[in-house]
Amino acid sequence: MASIPLRLRDHSYDVLIGPGVRTSLPEVVGRLGAGRAVVVSARPREWVPDTGVETLLLPARDGERDKTLATVEALCREFVRFGLTRSDVVVSCGGGTTTDVVGLAAALHHRGVPVVHLPTTLLAQVDAGVGGKTAVNLPEGKNLVGTYWQPSAVLCDTDYLTTLPRRELLNGYGEIARCHFIGAPDLRSLPRAEQIAASVRLKARVVQADERDAGLRHILNYGHTLGHALEKATGFALRHGEGVAVGTVFAGRLAGALGRIGRARVAEHHDVVRSYGLPTAVPSEAGTADLVRLMRHDKKAAGGLTFVLDGPHGAELVHDVPSDVVTHVLTGMPRAPLAALVAADAPPAGRASVATTDPARS
Ligand code: GLY
Repeated sequence: MASIPLRLRDHSYDVLIGPGVRTSLPEVVGRLGAGRAVVVSARPREWVPDTGVETLLLPARDGERDKTLATVEALCREFVRFGLTRSDVVVSCGGGTTTDVVGLAAALHHRGVPVVHLPTTLLAQVDAGVGGKTAVNLPEGKNLVGTYWQPSAVLCDTDYLTTLPRRELLNGYGEIARCHFIGAPDLRSLPRAEQIAASVRLKARVVQADERDAGLRHILNYGHTLGHALEKATGFALRHGEGVAVGTVFAGRLAGALGRIGRARVAEHHDVVRSYGLPTAVPSEAGTADLVRLMRHDKKAAGGLTFVLDGPHGAELVHDVPSDVVTHVLTGMPRAPLAALVAADAPPAGRASVATTDPARS
């Protein structure tokens, strides 16, 4: 088991990673001194660990459909009916959409109750469940309403991952692949638990330095500018991690075209992404002009085209990248039909898959 500390100015917690770490929940709840708990779970009851205290178990559904203010309100009303106080604890168990929405409900109920996350997808374990960002969607767009609410602990139980369909695992590997270019060592040959631990260690370092996204934290969005545009352009048929994978290859080529990195480093982007079994080509269905238009609306952009790009000093946010260069590099990307790019959605061999997806993150 790995235990990775995340130390912030006024709040610290540990991220535990390994098989069976969900059974540490009663100890975590005991250390918090919580009298009661509400567990909000997108996983079947048998996957939800005991809390050691009086508990209300509420069902949740992973996915963007329930990542709404209406869900937050419904959860808060359940918390009130249960009599949940600030001396109690909320526990989330599910993918990144569930940790996001439950984290936001915990932040708002009585202006903040402690929350413990049990992320159950690879994507949520390496990114969404760690670092304290919470958000829900509006009809106008994704993740438009949210806040920072750091958990009191994160238990990344790798047993959950044994139940994931192959494509959902790959979704998480999109975020692991981009770590290669933002300060992690080469993780390709490591066992999965060590890949998760290294990704979390990197994220903890970044969040400790810039909890509120004022600068450094932007590097976590490596590959995301095109990634988000690809998700939108394909109506979310391309999943978040898959979009980030293609976006990472593109970011390498763009950095090369701007003279920030050499040919070998550009090629490394392609090789790393491909070695995780992730897509490296842009879906033929997504038009170049449409993608450039979508990238202009990226959250990091202030009107122009903004990317996190590799360079002589490592990855950094680069504003106002000329649109003709972006268009030229995008036009030169390999293309393939969406159906040929994405992995078959088969369950893992010999196991029933529990319903779970992490379709999109930011
Ligand atoms: N997922 C990016 C971040 O937590 O900042």
